[in-house]
Amino acid sequence: MHDALVRFIRDQYGTEEFIPLHAPVFPGREREYVLQAIDSTYVSSVGAFVDRFEQDVAAYTGSPRAVATMNGTAALHAALVLAGVTPGDLVITQALTFVATCNAIAYCHAEPVFVDVERRTLGLSPAAMESWLDAHARLDPDGVCRLKEDGRAVRACLPMHTFGHPVDLGALVDVCSRWRITLVEDAAESLGSLYRGRHTGTFGRLGTLSFNGNKVVTTGGGGMILCDEALGTRAKHLTTTAKAPHAYEFFHDEVGYNYRLPNLNAALGCAQIELLDRFVASKRTLAQRYAEHLAGSGLEFVREPEGCRSNYWLNAVICDSRAERDALLKATNERGVMTRPIWRLMTELPAYRHCRRGSLDTSEWLEERVVNLPSSVLPGATA
Ligand SMILES: Cc1ncc(COP(=O)(O)O)c(C=O)c1O
Repeated sequence: MHDALVRFIRDQYGTEEFIPLHAPVFPGREREYVLQAIDSTYVSSVGAFVDRFEQDVAAYTGSPRAVATMNGTAALHAALVLAGVTPGDLVITQALTFVATCNAIAYCHAEPVFVDVERRTLGLSPAAMESWLDAHARLDPDGVCRLKEDGRAVRACLPMHTFGHPVDLGALVDVCSRWRITLVEDAAESLGSLYRGRHTGTFGRLGTLSFNGNKVVTTGGGGMILCDEALGTRAKHLTTTAKAPHAYEFFHDEVGYNYRLPNLNAALGCAQIELLDRFVASKRTLAQRYAEHLAGSGLEFVREPEGCRSNYWLNAVICDSRAERDALLKATNERGVMTRPIWRLMTELPAYRHCRRGSLDTSEWLEERVVNLPSSVLPGATA
């Protein structure tokens, strides 16, 4: 079975060389735009490509505003600050995620609360969140959700759309509004993914994207905050050192961040976003082929949740057991085809071991079994 899978993957990419998990491709106007940025001398934190990239992403996602940042982690940190997360607050998130999700919570000197994921979506389970809240939280007379134990505020909920598969946003929006908790979506992996026809990252008060080199489209390094107009103005200010606008004076009216995306990187992004629909179509074709190839193989291919369109950023399979997972990882990596296990649970990392958690049965079960398969855009996809 492993040999057949390796052969199948090699045939998709038409190579006997090493196959990475996700490599960027630049078949469009990338060189042209980057050269334009260089020729303009605007290579740093302001420039026409930054404005254009923000407008392009806002238009693509349907977000009223999009504010570019230097990476997805910075976007997450700023989004949580804008959501009103302050030191000592609690933020509900999933234990099965990339570490940046909960690092951003820690940067706010807030504390993550880890709840379980759903097997169906691999993302935060609204039912698990609600049962944790029922057991541990109450709404105070001012409508603030607080821990029963010591009155600390449960300020935000930060779900993540794992491998591009949308979480159950309908149910999550309901739980958050019942408990007056601000929803912020970590949509780093889900550019191009829709929940009931609407783009992920636009359901919460804020959403964030990443344009790291391994994402669906890349700016080298980069991120984006999605939000409404008013928050967008605040986001721009906060990520631009909180500098009051003035032709030559320097006045900063709060502690701000230098989180801006350089124009040089935005130029790459403008070219890549022109290709996004073709990239997503190619990734969905590959996912369909994986699903067909793996049918009856004993490996369960992870499909998009019902009612969603996933970008299939990283294709994933669920193995029967940890032993089977290890065998798959070994066989493929030894043959020059990169595969990798899903992340270790955040509750196993030294920085987050002590944090509050609900039952994590599904997260633990998936942690032992999920493997990502090569998922780069197929050759010739943009021809
Ligand atoms: C779920 C998730 N959140 C946040 C990030 C952080 O993005 P960046 O690497 O651009 O800082 C990433 C990816 O890198 C991610 O996969």
